[in-house]
Amino acid sequence: MTSHPRHFLDLPDIPADDLRHILAHAHQLKRNKFQPPQVLSGLSLAMVFDKRSTRTRMSFEVAMKQLGGHTIVMTADDMHLTGAESIEDTAKVLSRYVDAAMFRISSHETLAEIARHASIPVINGLTNHSHPCQIMADLMTIEEKLGSVKGKKIAWFGDYNNVARTIAQASKIWDFELVAAVPGELAPASSGDIKITQDAAAAAAGADIIVTDTWVSMGQEGKDIQKFLPYQVNPDLMAKAKPGAIFMHCMPIHRGEEVTNEVLSTSASVIYDEAENRLHAQKAILAWCLEGTGVKLV
Ligand code: CP
Ligand code: NVA
Repeated sequence: MTSHPRHFLDLPDIPADDLRHILAHAHQLKRNKFQPPQVLSGLSLAMVFDKRSTRTRMSFEVAMKQLGGHTIVMTADDMHLTGAESIEDTAKVLSRYVDAAMFRISSHETLAEIARHASIPVINGLTNHSHPCQIMADLMTIEEKLGSVKGKKIAWFGDYNNVARTIAQASKIWDFELVAAVPGELAPASSGDIKITQDAAAAAAGADIIVTDTWVSMGQEGKDIQKFLPYQVNPDLMAKAKPGAIFMHCMPIHRGEEVTNEVLSTSASVIYDEAENRLHAQKAILAWCLEGTGVKLV
């Protein structure tokens, strides 16, 4: 591996041209999904989880294997990472065994520390701060359904969480408008160019994309959800969006809480395409991260 591994930790850390190239490659890989190029032949990806996962785990496993590579999966508790061994030693030892490592761990600071000490690419599979792999799949889905992302209005509802924060990061890179309707006490202290409102109807008005996520992220179990009730995505809210607007959700969904079944059963909902696109986007992310090993991007 090169001495400067290509980490995939947070969208703003990565050159915008590289991000656009990854998305273009993801579309190409999807078009050729029955003939996946064996560009990761002989390479190994470690995946470490301290939280549950269906999509991230499955899609990384399948992505790696379809491109000819291998995976090894552990929970953080299976390893010495959670206290018994330093982060530095963990990162340096992993770097001697595998070609890239994906972590789903709560602490973004720990992820960054792993990356500082690793000589292989480190990929963010979700932290409490951000979820960049998800948003690459989301952008890919928007491009498929609506063409360019540039200039679109995305309206977010509910908790201003890791997924919302990553969409906010993406809005500056891809030049789209983000309006987040969130309970007042949860509004971010500094929202930059992002519009924050408590008025769900105003946020939805004329939106191209309506998006929400669970009100209770992993690790926040027991949280009071009453304050989120005005931010539920239901047919009344969808009716305020632009005709042809799509509904997105990273999943898992809590039906009847952040979104109703009526919305999910309409053609506006693109949730399963969004989930599928995790696979294609991740192949392109892996190829970009591992390009230094001789992998060809396209
Ligand atoms: N959207 C997402 O990351 O799903 P999982 O928690 O199932 O990986
Ligand atoms: N915000 C959610 C996303 C799950 C994919 C969580 O962190 O649990």
